[in-house]
Amino acid sequence: MTSEGPQARHVAIIMDGNGRWAKRKHLPRVMGHRKGVEAVRELVRSLKDTSIECLTLYAFSSENWKRPDEEVDDLMNLMRKFIKSDLPEFIANDVRLHIIGDWQSLAPDIVEMLEDALEQTASGSRTLAVALNYGAQAEIVQAAQRAAEQGPITEDSLAANLYTAGLPPLDLLIRTSGEVRLSNFLLWQAAYAEMLFTDVLWPDFTPEHLRQALEDFTNRERRFGGR
Ligand code: FPP
Repeated sequence: MTSEGPQARHVAIIMDGNGRWAKRKHLPRVMGHRKGVEAVRELVRSLKDTSIECLTLYAFSSENWKRPDEEVDDLMNLMRKFIKSDLPEFIANDVRLHIIGDWQSLAPDIVEMLEDALEQTASGSRTLAVALNYGAQAEIVQAAQRAAEQGPITEDSLAANLYTAGLPPLDLLIRTSGEVRLSNFLLWQAAYAEMLFTDVLWPDFTPEHLRQALEDFTNRERRFGGR
């Protein structure tokens, strides 16, 4: 890494555009999601060559249940396959899995696979945080309720009850596919994050795109409200 500026430790990505990628190629939507999983795999493999200590990916939002049953099933099946096929690689590459969201209410077999994966990767040095059945507003409400049970609510006490407690502060939030909105993702955590919106569709997003995003980040001047 040649740049002198700040290095991004925590990067989050809203992986958008799988459906449009498939449509452009006259393929079924599921093919876009499948290619999207391949993009995830390549990105996770490239983490060791970056400054990133934590990569957080928006895989399934609490609003995604509104999609047709068939698509929800496809996404859940891809998740099952992904954990099964990539767990050995996570372990070998020192990647620790972390899940954010209400994942315990997913199908019991997925919950079991995730619990096993969390346990087996617990000592990894870089974190892959996957958002599953995640919604930021619900996360904040739940954190506020828990913080209130513990004492007065402060910024610190609320943050300590978010799913992201213990992870580095969010530095950079990327959304692919040209949409410019947060879609209920990491609303609290994004308070001081840099934002990068790219037209690249998620299945086409490569480690080189990530490298470029990190390079751009080092050239941004972060003020955190100061001047
Ligand atoms: C957005 O594309 C993408 C999703 C709703 C799911 C993201 C999931 C994956 C990349 C695969 C599963 C992930 C893992 C970690 C196994 P879209 O369908 O909204 O695309 P569109 O806006 O072009 O229709």
